[in-house]
Amino acid sequence: MGSSANKPELIVNGKRLDGRAFGELRPLKIVAGGLKNAAGSAYLEWGNNKVIAGVYGPKEALPKHTQDPEKAVVKCKYSMAPFSSLEEHNRSGPNRRAIEISKVTREVFEKVILLEDFPGSEIDIYIEVLQSDGGTRAAGITCAAVALAMSGIPMTDLPYATSVGKVGDHMILDLNKIEDNYSDADMPVAIGPRNGEILLLQMDGTLTKQDIKEGMDLIRKAGETISRLQREALRAPYERISNKYKN
Ligand code: CDP
Repeated sequence: MGSSANKPELIVNGKRLDGRAFGELRPLKIVAGGLKNAAGSAYLEWGNNKVIAGVYGPKEALPKHTQDPEKAVVKCKYSMAPFSSLEEHNRSGPNRRAIEISKVTREVFEKVILLEDFPGSEIDIYIEVLQSDGGTRAAGITCAAVALAMSGIPMTDLPYATSVGKVGDHMILDLNKIEDNYSDADMPVAIGPRNGEILLLQMDGTLTKQDIKEGMDLIRKAGETISRLQREALRAPYERISNKYKN
């Protein structure tokens, strides 16, 4: 959240600054694959965010002291390219924020990967933000989920993430950077759609119980679209092959 000084109006004539309705997602495009050396990868454009994710492993966890003889360990590195945000490029790189996002992202995937299938190994998830405009942790999780599914690493679910925030009396979905900076509150959430489990929930600012309920409804509704696009991205390479051999 930004300071209230010079705070821009985020809602004008019942619309958001980019013309969206309160519960509307930014355009989302997901492509599975792209990185030759990865076990699975994906590229995503979500509004003005551009994110690439690569999954490597399972392989022997190194250094050895990081191994768990009972299960695989997940290592996750989220980073923002120095050129991903012109205004604040000097703040990018491995800072406290990137460490926090890497941690919460790792925790999302630890909850859905069948870690016991790979004792002693590590699974590496890399998320690179090439261009950022608010909501990159959600974009990274949504993208990495597709990369993981593509790698064939067994998971109980295909997580997706997005955010909601509060502007005045309104709850809005999928905040862009200016909304993220100046809303009264924002709440990124990751969900496992199979049973609706909340895998990540962070909150900046104050929301009432009713705001959270309204926000979760917006997120779950949007999740139908996000999950569908994830599944379509995963199917697309196989459909291309099967179309090639038709007739
Ligand atoms: O990206 P996300 O909303 O998950 O995280 P945030 O910390 O709330 O950051 C919001 C936005 O501020 C990012 O998406 C970037 O566009 C921008 N930002 C930046 O340009 N440089 C940073 N070091 C941190 C954030």
